[in-house]
Amino acid sequence: MSKISVIGAGNVGASCAEYIAMKNFASEVILLDIKENFAEGKAMDLMQTTALNGFDTRIVGSTNDYSKTANSEVVVITSGVPRKPGMTREELIGINAGIVKTVMENCLQHSPNAIIVVVSNPMDTMTYLAKQTSGLPKNRIIGMGGALDSARFRYFLSQALGVPSSEVDGMVIGGHGDTTMIPLTRLASYKGVPVSQFLSAEELEKIKASTMVGGATLTAMLGTSAWYAPGAAVSALVQSIVCDQKKMMPCCVALDGEYGQSDICIGVPVILGKSGWEKIVNLDLNDAEKAEFEKSAAAVRNMNAAL
Ligand code: NAI
Ligand code: 2OP
Repeated sequence: MSKISVIGAGNVGASCAEYIAMKNFASEVILLDIKENFAEGKAMDLMQTTALNGFDTRIVGSTNDYSKTANSEVVVITSGVPRKPGMTREELIGINAGIVKTVMENCLQHSPNAIIVVVSNPMDTMTYLAKQTSGLPKNRIIGMGGALDSARFRYFLSQALGVPSSEVDGMVIGGHGDTTMIPLTRLASYKGVPVSQFLSAEELEKIKASTMVGGATLTAMLGTSAWYAPGAAVSALVQSIVCDQKKMMPCCVALDGEYGQSDICIGVPVILGKSGWEKIVNLDLNDAEKAEFEKSAAAVRNMNAAL
């Protein structure tokens, strides 16, 4: 069984640790935070659910002691500042870049073979930063955004169809931003049947728009950004890696000519297994989707320039 470290024991980090533990596929989860005693408190609270929830994963808290994270198979980076209402993910760049860079250095010192999952926003740029500054092989750096956005897309589709989201398939590619993500309505399906057979073009446009502002809608309602679905999305991604499940999920990865892009980290479907992202899946996008992808890449590249 695997050891996983989650850096940042805030809303997303703790939720991620909880879902990983509940699924019982890891032996140990280290929760680390810079705030004195915070991660220890979260870990103790979560461990007090074991008798009730019946999982065996050990959750250990740590205040900035990276030696506890040694030999982690996967490191998840959620440390940083979340969005406040009205704030874009992009506005977080200055503060979070410094945090992500330092955290990466500390983690790799103790877990040089770890696969890194970046969650902190603006996630596409933070993933690019992690890739550029660490020099790690590209398949070991994965940004989480598309898995969450796709779950939200499937939720909105399922609501419109009046069916469970488990019956609905759909993917969101491109950047993890309100204007950069691309919910692929043409490829979405209900039990393998294109959703366009059940929903009008107008309804699909509405679903696409709701998906794109899915995070902002929740931030406005909650006063901070969401954590349950983000935590669940990270845990699904980590499970596919450590259990070598070979699941296909849209993830932010470094492109080397795929989708006509290079020198960028952006969301595309990948296969996730033991060595990180193992293969990029090439979708047969139509001209409109290709144009959207190019626009999204240009926006992400523009943000990377701010580094
Ligand atoms: P939060 O404020 O609840 O938690 C962040 C935690 O990071 C805090 O406990 C803080 O003490 C800790 N932290 C700050 N600097 C640190 C450092 N140098 N070392 C260790 N810990 C440090 O925030 P929340 O809601 O958990 O969000 C975390 C990040 O994830 C934000 O940047 C947010 O925008 C992003 N996010 C990304 C999503 C995605 O799909 N990629 C989805 C949801 C949130
Ligand atoms: C979300 O999508 C803000 O990235 C965060 O909920």
